[in-house]
Amino acid sequence: MKKAKKSHFLTADGSPTLYMEQFDEYYHSKHGAVQEAMHVYLGMGFDYWRSLNPEATHCHIFEMGFGTGLNAFLTAKAASETGIHICYDTIEAYPLSTIEMNEANYVSFLEEEESLLFNQIQHATWEEEISITPFFKLKKMHCLLENYCPSIKTDLIYYDAFGARAQPEIWTDDCFPILTENMNPGGLFVTYAAIGSVRRALLRLGLVTGLVPGPPGKREMIRGHKPLL
Ligand SMILES: C[S@@+](CC[C@H](N)C(=O)[O-])C[C@H]1O[C@@H](n2cnc3c(N)ncnc32)[C@H](O)[C@@H]1O
Repeated sequence: MKKAKKSHFLTADGSPTLYMEQFDEYYHSKHGAVQEAMHVYLGMGFDYWRSLNPEATHCHIFEMGFGTGLNAFLTAKAASETGIHICYDTIEAYPLSTIEMNEANYVSFLEEEESLLFNQIQHATWEEEISITPFFKLKKMHCLLENYCPSIKTDLIYYDAFGARAQPEIWTDDCFPILTENMNPGGLFVTYAAIGSVRRALLRLGLVTGLVPGPPGKREMIRGHKPLL
């Protein structure tokens, strides 16, 4: 893909995101980047997974679309707060340059200690598992979803792709089997989207899938649950 222009955008909760001109897409909801990530991935995802697995001490997360690193950062904070050891594998087809990460300017929004953590996540070496904190290991992979081959079973999937209007090819039925086959029983799949065809594809793959309340500005989102054996 040609290098596309990205610019800073301040969302409604005061947290920044990037806007990608080529796709006419934002990396997060305009209604609030942090609010959206906290609701969709942390609340409906990680917190709900913990409620289903109260004895768990470890969680393996896969994220489709590392982007700015915001989801990874919020999850790293949650790992320390909950004492759950998280291994976080994430793929990104078009990694941001340092200039683009600076353009997002999360530093201006965060406390100094948080900025250091965010910085470590954004600048972590690709293709290697890195211990970011005692509770959070990160492996960033420069890889297209189409070529991704998971090596470890996951407990929680964050499916954070650009919208289907901009990138319909990453919302088709054949995107999901490789991910759901590699989920542990009791695992969860969450995405901000509420697309009927995606919900039906996940149901066909054996996930108990439904619509749950979405983040501010969005009525519903999809959550799928792999039943215990
Ligand atoms: C909605 S943004 C993700 C935002 C991100 N999770 C964050 O916290 O900033 C979608 C991301 O998916 C990436 N992407 C687009 N097509 C992809 C593909 N085929 N495989 C992997 N990543 C892709 C985009 O470059 C973009 O960074």
